[in-house]
Amino acid sequence: EYVIVDGEILDRTVAKVDIEDRGYQFGDGVYEVIRVYNGKMFTGKEHLQRLVESAEKIRMKLPYSPEELEPKMEELISKNELDTGIVYMQFTRGTSPRNHVFPAADVAPTFVAYTRKVARPVESMEKGVRSILDEDIRWLRCDIKSLNLLGNLLSKQKAAEAGCFEAILHRGETVTEGSHSNISIVKDGVIITHQADNLILNGITRQKVLEICSNEGITFEERAFTLDELSAADEVFSSGTTVEVMPIVEVDGKPVRNGEPGLVTRNLQNLFKAEIE
Ligand code: PDD
Repeated sequence: EYVIVDGEILDRTVAKVDIEDRGYQFGDGVYEVIRVYNGKMFTGKEHLQRLVESAEKIRMKLPYSPEELEPKMEELISKNELDTGIVYMQFTRGTSPRNHVFPAADVAPTFVAYTRKVARPVESMEKGVRSILDEDIRWLRCDIKSLNLLGNLLSKQKAAEAGCFEAILHRGETVTEGSHSNISIVKDGVIITHQADNLILNGITRQKVLEICSNEGITFEERAFTLDELSAADEVFSSGTTVEVMPIVEVDGKPVRNGEPGLVTRNLQNLFKAEIE
C-alpha cells in the first residue's frame, strides 16, 4: 500500500510524521475526502477547490495548486489499484516547536494522502438508516473543513452507541447538518436544506444534489429549518462523499412518516447513481 508524504509516494510502512506536527498537536490543518468510482475521482476538482478555500480561511498557503494535486492523487489511486473507495488528503501548518502562534513563513505545510477501499453503502441506501438528535456544540466556522473534529466525533459516537448511523445536529431550534454529512428534509415535494453559511460544511454531495434538482426541475429551498419542521417532514436524508444520498427513516426513536425511504429520496438516489456511472 502506498501513501503520499510531502509530495513523495512512499510505502505505508515507512511513512512518518513528526511528533511536533501542528496537525497532531493542534488539529491545525485542513482535509478532504474524495470518492473514487471505477478508479476515477468523482467531483475531484470541486473537492480540491474547497481544500484551497479551507486553507485560505485558516491563513495557510498550500504548497501545491489543485492542478498539481490532481495528477498526484491519480498516480496514488493507480499505484494502489483502487477501484471503489476514497482518497484522504490533509495539509497541516507544518512541524515546529509547540506555540499557539503560527510558525515562521519558511515552515512548509505537511501534506499526507492515502487511499482506502470503501464500498458503496448499497444496503443502507436501500433500507435507510436511523439517527439521533444532538446539540451542535461546534465552533462557528463549520464551513472550514478543518482537522478539528471533536464536536463531530462526540456526536457521532453518541449516535453509534445508540445503534444509529448519524447524529442530526441542531443549534437550539435550528437544524444545521449531520456529524459527518449534510441533512435535508422533504415537505410536500420540496427539498429543504440549511443554507451554505458558517454553520455548515457546504458539502460537495449537497451541491451535486442541488444541481441535479435544478436540472430536473425538483424544487428546493436553501434555508434554516427547525426541529418541528424536521419532525413533520415527509422525508429526511443525509448526503456526503461516502454515504451519497442516504434515507434517514428514524429520528430519536420516532419513524419518519411510515419509517420507509420516501419517493423523492429514491428518485434522487437514482439520479445521483446515474452521475457516478
Ligand atoms: N465528511 N458535513 C460534515 C460535517 C462532513 O464531515 C461532511 C463530509 C459533509 C458532507 O460533505 P461532502 O459531500 O463534501 O463529503 C457535511 C467527510 C466525508 C468525512 O469527514 O469523512
